[in-house]
Amino acid sequence: MKIILFGASGFIGSSLLTHCLQEPSLTSLIVISRRQLPSIASLDPRIKVIVLENFPTYPESVIHELTGAKACFWAIGGLKYKPVTTSQSEVVEVIQYPLAAAKALIAASSSTSNPVNTKEKTRFLFLSGALAERNQAKSLWFIEEGRKKQGLVETKLLDLADEYSDFETVIIYAGMVLRKENRIPERVVGLSRIAIRIDELAAAMVDSAVNGVGSGTVGNKELRRKGKALLGKRVD
Ligand SMILES: NC(=O)c1ccc[n+]([C@@H]2O[C@H](COP(=O)([O-])OP(=O)(O)OC[C@H]3O[C@@H](n4cnc5c(N)ncnc54)[C@H](OP(=O)(O)O)[C@@H]3O)[C@@H](O)[C@H]2O)c1
Repeated sequence: MKIILFGASGFIGSSLLTHCLQEPSLTSLIVISRRQLPSIASLDPRIKVIVLENFPTYPESVIHELTGAKACFWAIGGLKYKPVTTSQSEVVEVIQYPLAAAKALIAASSSTSNPVNTKEKTRFLFLSGALAERNQAKSLWFIEEGRKKQGLVETKLLDLADEYSDFETVIIYAGMVLRKENRIPERVVGLSRIAIRIDELAAAMVDSAVNGVGSGTVGNKELRRKGKALLGKRVD
C-alpha cells in the first residue's frame, strides 16, 4: 500500500510517519515537503522524500509519484506556520495548498500510468482545527477569518469527493493534541473532551487510512476511542 504524507517534519506528521512505518501493508511512503529531509529519507527504504518548491503547483513528475496511492495525510500548518503578509496570499496558502494536493491526487488516479489493479478510492485525510466553521455566513466571536477559511477548505474538499467517485475526503477534527508523555491524568484528558494524545491520534488516522471510514468528518472523541483500542489502552 502506498501512502502520501504532507507535514512529516511536524509534530503530528512525524507521529503519522512512525505509525505508517509500523503498518504491515505499507509498501511505499511518499513524503512531500518544501525542503529536503535527509534524516527522514534515511529512516526506511520505503520512504521517498519529494521536495515541492511551489506548493500549489504539481509538476507531472510529482503527479507520477502520487499514482497508485491509497491514502494521503495532510498535516501542514500548525504553530510554526507563518502565513505570508497579504490576506490574498494567506488565502492561497490555507485554502489552495490542500486543494491543489487533492486535485493532484485526483489527476494521478485518472492518469494513464495508474495501473488498473490499483484503481481504487484515494483517501485524503485532512487535519483540521476543531474550531473550523463551515458556515461562511455565521458571525464568530473569535478568530473568525481563520476558522471560516478552515471551514471553507473542508467544504471544498468534501465537494471534490462528491464530484469524483474515486476520491474520498476525511476531515479529522482533532482537539488539543498532547505529547505522548504528557502527565495530564487520563481521566482529565477524557473529561476535557477536546484533548487527545499524539500516539492515539496517529494510530486512529493510519487505521482510518488503511481501512476507511467513508467520506465525512471524524471527531476527537471517536479518534481517541479508536486510537486507544488500537494501542491496547483501556478505553474510558
Ligand atoms: N497540534 C495540535 O494540537 C493540533 C490540533 C488540531 C489540529 N492541528 C492541525 O494539524 C496540522 C499540523 O499541526 P502540527 O502541530 O503538527 O504543526 P507543526 O508541528 O508546526 O508542523 C507543521 C508542518 O507543516 C509544514 N509547513 C508549515 N508551513 C508550511 C508552508 N507554508 N508550506 C509547506 N509546508 C509547511 C512544516 O514544514 P517545515 O518543517 O518545513 O516547517 C511541518 O511539516 C495543522 O494544520 C494544525 O492546525 C494541530
